[in-house]
Amino acid sequence: MTVPDLSLLTAEDLEVLLAAATAAPSIHNTQPWRFHADPVTRSIEVHRAPQRALPLTDPACRAQYLSVGAAVFNLRLAADRLGRRPVVRLLPRPDQPALLAGVRLIERPYPRERWGPALYQAIARRHSSRMPFTGRPVPGPVVAELTRAARVEGAWLRVPAFAGIQRVLRLTAAGESRNVADSGRAAESRTWVTPPGAGAYGIPVTALGPRDLAGRIPLRDFAAARRTRRAPALRFERHTQLAVLCTAHDRRVDWLRAGQALQHALLVATAHGVRTSMLHQAMEWPDLRHALRGTQQRRCCPQLLIRFGYGPEGGWTPRAPAELSTGGPLGRPGGTDGPPRGEAGSPSLAAEPGPPVIARVTEPPDHRIP
Ligand SMILES: Cc1cc2nc3c(=O)[nH]c(=O)nc-3n(C[C@H](O)[C@H](O)[C@H](O)COP(=O)(O)O)c2cc1C
Repeated sequence: MTVPDLSLLTAEDLEVLLAAATAAPSIHNTQPWRFHADPVTRSIEVHRAPQRALPLTDPACRAQYLSVGAAVFNLRLAADRLGRRPVVRLLPRPDQPALLAGVRLIERPYPRERWGPALYQAIARRHSSRMPFTGRPVPGPVVAELTRAARVEGAWLRVPAFAGIQRVLRLTAAGESRNVADSGRAAESRTWVTPPGAGAYGIPVTALGPRDLAGRIPLRDFAAARRTRRAPALRFERHTQLAVLCTAHDRRVDWLRAGQALQHALLVATAHGVRTSMLHQAMEWPDLRHALRGTQQRRCCPQLLIRFGYGPEGGWTPRAPAELSTGGPLGRPGGTDGPPRGEAGSPSLAAEPGPPVIARVTEPPDHRIP
């Protein structure tokens, strides 16, 4: 594979940057991003991939923006690792709605990392763990670090006490049973469950994990109609630890900030040996999401639930080669730009049309992140 030389942005740099970005979590592992590197401005643009939207589960594309935000955070970390200062502009071109972020890499006067190596190294080690946790509580100072990580990105984590957790789980269970009963949504989510080793998008059935024997934790049943292929139910931790990722507003820019906050918090957790997984079902039904807004004193816009604890590592989920085009001014690969809402995306796993992809990063990210 040859990657174009981008003057001050070398092919090796580009590999490091894209490997990090594509290792980000995304809803149903749709990986709804593609990249454009501009050698003139030495910037990497992150575009959404409307073809990998989930029109029934995520009609406003909010979860897609969260996923892209997570990829942007990884890009920032990788730039930092390379000794470049990342200057991020979210939604830089109102006339290009599919261009979600521009990350300009600036030479630093001296090679100093802002975050230190642990967070960067956590990118490759983080996997969603849908397995039972041991129940050993994550200590308060570590939880405080997670909440600080979200805060610096312009979002926050609400960490409910026992009664609050029960309520959040009840609302999530309600979302889950509605999803299973809704034939359109159930079919959409099944499209993204793949046999092990088949395809680079979607979730391999082996990464799904068991159901909770006691029925306390409503893990998403991605493949409701294929129950027989799921692992046998197991007993999960009695006291679930959860955080609600929230933002003050609910605009597209807030979703991108929430995605960066999500990834920052997940990586801090991973660096501490804490496992995480995500629960989004209640966010997919307006009334349930509304019910999660918090108290009158501290109203917020809930974006996602993060479950955390100690336990086994999550199963590996594949990534597609990073799709990259180069050259041209900001926003040039606008062929797929379109309205962000109500877009009829297709769940097809086939390669998407768009600008010519002139470089594909082919190795799995785990092998390329030192
Ligand atoms: C916005 C968003 C919503 C998600 N919702 C769920 C969910 O409801 N249930 C779940 O098990 N995983 C959920 N995930 C996790 C993805 O399935 C996971 O990130 C993806 O399969 C890639 O796997 P990895 O996290 O192990 O890299 C979500 C991730 C994101 C970014």
